[in-house]
Amino acid sequence: MIARIRRAGLALGAGLFLAMPAALAQAPAPAEETPEMFPAGPNRDEAFYACIACHNFKLVAAQGLSREKWGETLDWMLSKHNMPALAADERGKVLDYLVEAFPPKAPSLQGGWKNPFLN
Ligand code: HEC
Repeated sequence: MIARIRRAGLALGAGLFLAMPAALAQAPAPAEETPEMFPAGPNRDEAFYACIACHNFKLVAAQGLSREKWGETLDWMLSKHNMPALAADERGKVLDYLVEAFPPKAPSLQGGWKNPFLN
């Protein structure tokens, strides 16, 4: 009797164990990012590979910033997130691309948070 209960427990445990990877497999896998998925421009590869060591580039592309603000973002990655420093010319290239591809957004496109109950 005890042996049977134990076996049932084992079977249940094994069932959960097998079911979990299946559930995980159903979650949409994040698409593999490539530089080509982002606006074409000089130094795209430099910028892309400088940033994806730690997070996807979509996070970067979601921003629209001035050169100054992109510079501050880079400094923030360096000081707060242990990003390895870029050589001066490399930093310039990365900034060139970021400003060119993701400039400050026009105010009309900025949106921001809107209270859905006031629209
Ligand atoms: C060494 C790791 C590292 C590298 C390299 C790196 N980042 Fe980050 N970055 C982070 C971490 C960690 C976060 C998450 C910060 C947080 O928790 O908000 C982040 C977040 C961001 C964000 C989101 C800020 C927000 O408001 O949500 C931007 C934009 C960003 N990084 C830009 C860049 C750019 C541009 C590059 C490449 C030039 C870069 N990062 C490279 C570590 C890195």
